[in-house]
Amino acid sequence: MKIVAIANQKGGVAKTTTSINLAACLAARGCRTLLIDLDPQGNATSGLGFPPIEGQSVYGALLGQEPLSDKVIPTRWERLFLIPGDLDLAGAEIEIARLEDHLTRLRSALEIFRQDQPFDFVLLDCPPSLGILMTNALAAADELLIPLQCEYFALEGLSKIHHVVDQIRESGANPHLTIGGILMTMFMRNNLAQQVINEVQTHFGNIIYRTVIPRTVRLSEAPSHGLPIIDYEPNGLGSTAYRALTEEFLKRNPLTKN
Ligand SMILES: Nc1ncnc2c1ncn2[C@@H]1O[C@H](COP(=O)(O)OP(=O)(O)OP(=O)(O)O)[C@@H](O)[C@H]1O
Ligand SMILES: [Mg+2]
Repeated sequence: MKIVAIANQKGGVAKTTTSINLAACLAARGCRTLLIDLDPQGNATSGLGFPPIEGQSVYGALLGQEPLSDKVIPTRWERLFLIPGDLDLAGAEIEIARLEDHLTRLRSALEIFRQDQPFDFVLLDCPPSLGILMTNALAAADELLIPLQCEYFALEGLSKIHHVVDQIRESGANPHLTIGGILMTMFMRNNLAQQVINEVQTHFGNIIYRTVIPRTVRLSEAPSHGLPIIDYEPNGLGSTAYRALTEEFLKRNPLTKN
């Protein structure tokens, strides 16, 4: 089982879009996949067609009151499971910070899955801030997938996140955390976007995914229908891109037998 945090402290860079669509594509490819919505906004939850479900988020498990396995709900897609996000997660910032081991609460809660291996992949859709939820995700993950918008300030954000990864490693909370990939999103063919991609490539080389996600209105419409793009527009540009990302992701993360 591999746990991947989809994170970037910058808002609106396609963390949730990537979480939903990578999760759906992995499930469609035969992988048992759990998507955990760590954002109080619950966009990944509504994007899969679920209303907020009170008491079903990771919150109780972070407090150590309930096992995380009780929070998993099946979806209408085979092999795709969800732990929904809910507004109660907003309280985590204050409540969890007070507790002992506040950095490793999610890591401990996920231990049950590391032992039982009911999933091949666990994707963590992180909220856009460097708060307690995102740091818990980084402390729990094997690796980080960073969506990056093709825009001028992209690199600045990257160095910040790099710094946080170093801090998490050094804190001892997760010494083996790696940046597994950088994904360029919302690409529009123009000089600036290409320049940004080139620059990220120069700095980060092979970590950057060859697949680039184009800006397409269909990708922004799909969540309001509660559908991943491969159901909303199976043969469109968005589907092609997220399927290609999934193949690349699986090449980097081949399924192991357990
Ligand atoms: N490739 C794309 N083409 C067009 N629109 C996109 C694309 N990817 C994401 N969007 C849209 O951009 C907005 C931000 O995307 P998304 O919610 O996935 O970002 P996020 O990083 O999760 O945001 P937040 O930081 O608020 O959690 C959404 O309205 C989404 O539908
Ligand atoms: Mg989001």
